[in-house]
Amino acid sequence: MKLLACLICSFFILCLSPMLSQTNYDENKVPPFEVPDPLLTFNGKKIESVKKWENTRRPELLHFFESNVYGKLPKSLKIDSYTILEQDNNALNGKAKRKQVELTFKNNNKTLRYTILIYLPKHIVKAPIFLGYNFYGNHTITEDKAVLISTAWANNNESFGIENNTLTKESRGKRAHRWAVEKILDAGYGLATIYYGEVDPDKNDFSDGVHHLMYQQNQNKPNPEEWGSIAAWSWGMVRALDYFEKDPDLDASKVIAFGHSRLGKTSLWAGATDTRFAGVISNDSGCGGAALSKRKFGETVGSINSSFPHWFCDNFNQYSNNEEALPVDQHQLLALIAPRPLYVASAEEDQWADPRGEFLAAHYASQVYHLYGKKGIESMEMPKANEPIHNTVSYHIRTGKHDVTDYDWKNYIEWANSFVK
Ligand code: GCU
Repeated sequence: MKLLACLICSFFILCLSPMLSQTNYDENKVPPFEVPDPLLTFNGKKIESVKKWENTRRPELLHFFESNVYGKLPKSLKIDSYTILEQDNNALNGKAKRKQVELTFKNNNKTLRYTILIYLPKHIVKAPIFLGYNFYGNHTITEDKAVLISTAWANNNESFGIENNTLTKESRGKRAHRWAVEKILDAGYGLATIYYGEVDPDKNDFSDGVHHLMYQQNQNKPNPEEWGSIAAWSWGMVRALDYFEKDPDLDASKVIAFGHSRLGKTSLWAGATDTRFAGVISNDSGCGGAALSKRKFGETVGSINSSFPHWFCDNFNQYSNNEEALPVDQHQLLALIAPRPLYVASAEEDQWADPRGEFLAAHYASQVYHLYGKKGIESMEMPKANEPIHNTVSYHIRTGKHDVTDYDWKNYIEWANSFVK
C-alpha cells in the first residue's frame, strides 16, 4: 500500500515539476510590459471626467472583462422564492440574531437552492454586513451546532472528514479561524456566508449548479463568451443582495463583498458588476483576481486556465501564455469598483498570488479613484509587512501564509468603520 502511494506520489511530482519549475518567483525575470491606461479608451481617447469614465470607459472595460475574462450571464435569473429555514434571536450565547435563509431559483423546469447563513449583532438595527462565500459549508465557519449542513457536492478533503463528496458534522468549525465571527459582531457588523458549492460545484462540469438552469435547447456548456464558475459565484452574491433588500433586518446599502483566494476573485467580480455593494475586499485573490497578469509572477493565465478550466469563460484561453495580447489588466477590474471603497490584501508567504502584482494593481487602479477626488494607493513602494495603508483604496501585506487571519479582519473592520458606520 505504502509502495503504491509512493509510486503515485513520484508520478505526480514528475508530471508537475516541469510546470512548477516554470513558475517565476524572481522579480528580475518579470517581463517588461506596458500597464494599460484605465483612463484611455480602446480608441485612444483620454478620459478626464467622472462622466466620461462612467458613460464611456467604464462600460467598455466592463464589457471586455465580461466577454473575455469571466463570461456573460446568458440572461437574468431572479429569486423565485425564499424560505427562512431557521431563526434564533438569541444565538451565540445571546450575542447575535441568526437566520438561515434558503433562496430558490427556477428556470427550464430546473431548480437551484442555496442557503445564506446570517449573523447580526443583536442590539444594532440594520447593521452593516460582510457577505462572502466559504469553501466547505456554512457549518465550517463556526462551532455553532445549529448551523445546517449542506447536502451539495463538495471536494473531498481528508482532514475535514469529507469523503464521497459529502459534507458531514465532522467538519463543523474546521474553518472557524478564518471567520472572526465574534470580533465582527462585537464591532457592530453582521456576517453572511454561503457555501459556494451550492451555487456551482467547483469542478470542470457544467451539467450542474446554476449554469444548467440557463441552457438553450441542446446546449450543455456555456458558449465561449458565457460565464464560468467565478461569474456564477458572483451572480450568487448579487442575488443574496436582492434578498437583503427584502429583509427588514438588513440594510442592503451597507453590504461589503468579501472573499478569499478564488472567492476573492469572485468578490471583485461581484463588486464590479453590481454597484450596490458598498465596498469590496479581496483577500489573497491572486491571478484572475487583484494581481496583474502581465507580470507573469507566480500563477499565470496559462496555469490557471489549465488547472481550473471552468473558472473563466472559454474566450480567456486566448490569453494563456499570451498575456502580452491582453488589452486590459487586473488593475482595471479594480478600477470598476471606484469610487466605492476597495481593500486588497496579500500575505508574504503567498508568492503564488503575487503580492507585488496585487499591490501594483491597487496602485494603478487609484487613478480612477482620483477622478472622484478619493485617495488610493499613492506610492509605488510596497509597505512593509503588517503596515497597512488605509484610504478609499486600502492595502496590506501581512506576515504568514495564504489564509484569512484575525489580523486581516481587524484591518477590514477598521477600514469599514470609516465608510459604513
Ligand atoms: C489555487 C489557485 C488560485 C486560487 C487558490 C484558492 O491555488 O491556483 O488561483 O486562488 O487555489 O482559491 O485557494
